[in-house]
Amino acid sequence: MAELMQGIRRSCYCCDVNEAMVGQEVTLMGWVSRKREFSHFSFILLRDRTGIVQAVVDRDSCSREVADKDKEIRGEYVIAVTGRVAARTPENINPNMKTGNIEVNVESMKILSESDTPPFQIEESINVSTELRLKYRYLDLRRPNVAANIVLRHKLCQIVRQFLSDEGFIEIETPMLTKSTPEGARDYLVPSRVHPGNFYALPQSPQLFKQLLMVSGFDRYFQIAKCFRDEDLRADRQPEFTQIDMELSFIEQDDVIDVNERLIKKVFKELKGIDVPTPFLRMPYCEAMERFGSDKPDIRFGMELQNITDIVDGSEFGVFQNAINAGGSVRGINAEGCGSFPRKKIDSLVDVAKTYGAKGLAWIVVNEEGFKTTISKFFTDDKINEIIARFNAKAGDLILLCADKDSIVFDALGALRLEVAKRLEILDEREYKFLWVTEFPLLEYSEEEQRYVAKHHPFTSPMDEDLQYIDTDPGRVRAKAYDMVLNGCEVGGGSIRIHSREIQSQMFKLLGFTPEDAQERFGFLLDAFKYGAPPHGGLAFGLDRLVMLLTGAESIRDVIAFPKVKDASCLLTDAPNTVDKIQLEELGIELSPNENTEVE
Ligand code: AMO
Ligand code: AMP
Repeated sequence: MAELMQGIRRSCYCCDVNEAMVGQEVTLMGWVSRKREFSHFSFILLRDRTGIVQAVVDRDSCSREVADKDKEIRGEYVIAVTGRVAARTPENINPNMKTGNIEVNVESMKILSESDTPPFQIEESINVSTELRLKYRYLDLRRPNVAANIVLRHKLCQIVRQFLSDEGFIEIETPMLTKSTPEGARDYLVPSRVHPGNFYALPQSPQLFKQLLMVSGFDRYFQIAKCFRDEDLRADRQPEFTQIDMELSFIEQDDVIDVNERLIKKVFKELKGIDVPTPFLRMPYCEAMERFGSDKPDIRFGMELQNITDIVDGSEFGVFQNAINAGGSVRGINAEGCGSFPRKKIDSLVDVAKTYGAKGLAWIVVNEEGFKTTISKFFTDDKINEIIARFNAKAGDLILLCADKDSIVFDALGALRLEVAKRLEILDEREYKFLWVTEFPLLEYSEEEQRYVAKHHPFTSPMDEDLQYIDTDPGRVRAKAYDMVLNGCEVGGGSIRIHSREIQSQMFKLLGFTPEDAQERFGFLLDAFKYGAPPHGGLAFGLDRLVMLLTGAESIRDVIAFPKVKDASCLLTDAPNTVDKIQLEELGIELSPNENTEVE
């Protein structure tokens, strides 16, 4: 469109226009957000990526050309206007608009592009389905508040790049077409044409490459890396997401923690003007589970779990006693002030617990007269009062109790704690509470696979003092692993790695790999460790999650330009989709009959 743009140049963005520019001529380009016509004037709200400014056409005094163009333009037309900035009269000031105290009196206007009526009104708050918004994501991204998330994401990347470069980190890209790295999810596979029947895996993280870069001697690496994990989507999970990934040599856990606390401090200062206090709280995994029922506790509020196994042990109440006898426990939370919840509301809390595997909940309502409880048949008033005292509960409180094996009790009560806080609306969005969760178990027993699996990943180093249990009591071994948690969200995680070939081989053996399997899958890493691997460790942040928390977005979907929906599809492009038969033939792939119905 060279001709269209000839002779006109944008002088500034819409939201750059301000009171200091009154009397100046500006040329703005953007989209017609809204147009209101009156007998003598027409008001055009002009939008670009910075926001909206009002352009005014004075029909009585404008040129014939401007009057004609003004008649023509409609919503979402792309126009250029030139005019003088004027102060609005006091009664016309709009305090809800950044540019609400000025307007631009249009002197010339050009239509740069026309537009059909969009499928939804492009405004900050709209009431349309996510599906429609994502199908027309390019229009959705015109909404200034949505665009602002993407801009903040960019700024975050800039700060990260600058900070890490200043700290001596080198940005290095690692391959997208690679071999499977086990981070615990399913891989996305890419078939090879040249090697029929063989597949690349898209990386779940750059984990192995960054460790190899340490063997290469790069010493401090970082990358803003795309990662791919075929797992169920949630508000904080996408199949394709971005990590701020880093690795350092010749360091200990404290060094990784230190550099990342300083990085986060800088990010929050520059993007939010908030001074995040450092050092962050550190909490061993066991303590996080005992107190909050979660390895990513939201510590903005209390309502901590209490263990009452000692009080209730030895009773006639089968539900509790069977759990205790089977090695489990009875614990609960005090939902403060929820004693007046109607029965239905309490039942809905029980339902929440059930979705986390609990078989039920017992409860005690504390009131002025004493208490009301579902377990009065089995316990004396003294016992109930002992329980109430353990929770420091007072009249008006509701104690929720769960008996089961520890993992279920923790999951259920951890989730209930969050649910109650949500219902009571006690979470302050503007409060940012960071902590490190440390000393994770190295391994986790998988009932499904009937073997130990790595809790973090198989390259994480055991804690030195626990190495002695690695053969006799592997479940007891803790790892040099750490997660950064912010307001109940795991924003980053990492570990000190194994850098010895022997310990790495031992770890693979523990995880059930035969030496041949281990060599086949990770031989390149084990081989690299033969040639001088420095002690090393690192961490990766979930970039999308950080941006979500910084912007107050409800889902990482809102901070990704082109996100996927729940079933991992892209509503805009319709991916994934069928491919031509010839493409499959080239790849040597044949689909089973029920899957190839749509292929041409
Ligand atoms: P981990 O698997 O803990 O560690 O991932 C690091 C961080 O990435 C984010 N994250 C995700 N974000 C959005 N969608 C997902 N599906 C998703 N999965 C993970 C989380 C998480 O804390 N290689 C190791 C890091 C290391 O050891 O250095 C790793 O990937 O915020
Ligand atoms: P029941 O014997 O099944 O009628 O249960 C008696 C009480 O125990 C009811 O209030 C149940 O909600 C509660 N209950 C059932 N299962 C559990 C559990 N796993 N933990 C705590 N309370 C439970």
